Amino acid sequence: MAKRIVVVASGRGSNFQAVIESVQRGWIGGTCVALVTDNPRAYAIERAQAAGIPVVIVDYSRFASRELYEQALLAALREVRPDLVVLAGYMRILGSAIVREYAGRMINIHPALLPSFTGLHAQRQALEHGVKLAGCTVHFVDESLDGGPIILQRCVRVMDDDDEDTLAERILIQEHIALPEAIRLFCEDCLSIEGRKVRIR
Ligand code: GRF
Repeated sequence: MAKRIVVVASGRGSNFQAVIESVQRGWIGGTCVALVTDNPRAYAIERAQAAGIPVVIVDYSRFASRELYEQALLAALREVRPDLVVLAGYMRILGSAIVREYAGRMINIHPALLPSFTGLHAQRQALEHGVKLAGCTVHFVDESLDGGPIILQRCVRVMDDDDEDTLAERILIQEHIALPEAIRLFCEDCLSIEGRKVRIR
């Protein structure tokens, strides 16, 4: 049975677009059943509409507390019944109730070779550290910050004249390959988590 994929994104949505196109090409054995966003101005919304994917907006600014927002987000996710939740540029830290509910069924794309450079501005952190290789990581989400079991990584070279934008752009090209690939593997039941390791068969 085709897996129900729900993408959660806060902004531009270029990774979401890569997922949409991989699903449309039939490369991913799943259906993108909803975009859920915390940001009513996210460009990802237009991408969803263009692809005929339902949009659920849980506007963070309309909630009196983070707890209430998280409850609404969890309710919205339950409503769309995901087999897989994909965080693709979701710019908030998820509360533990959601993380627990979707344990083993929620993945995130991060623009660094984890465990280096967690959190915001990963590309800037990499440049400031002076690394020669940078990249992206797709991982299962657990309650740590960008610390769950790693599904796959792709790397790029860091050039002497890179700034944050040029490095981010080079990494993004790899993100658009890595994220659909990880989703494809999940949808084909090829991933199993054994402790910190993800086995791919
Ligand atoms: C990507 O770099 C992703 O790794 C990070 O946020 C950015 C989102 O970009 N988590 P987009 O919205 O997918 O274009």
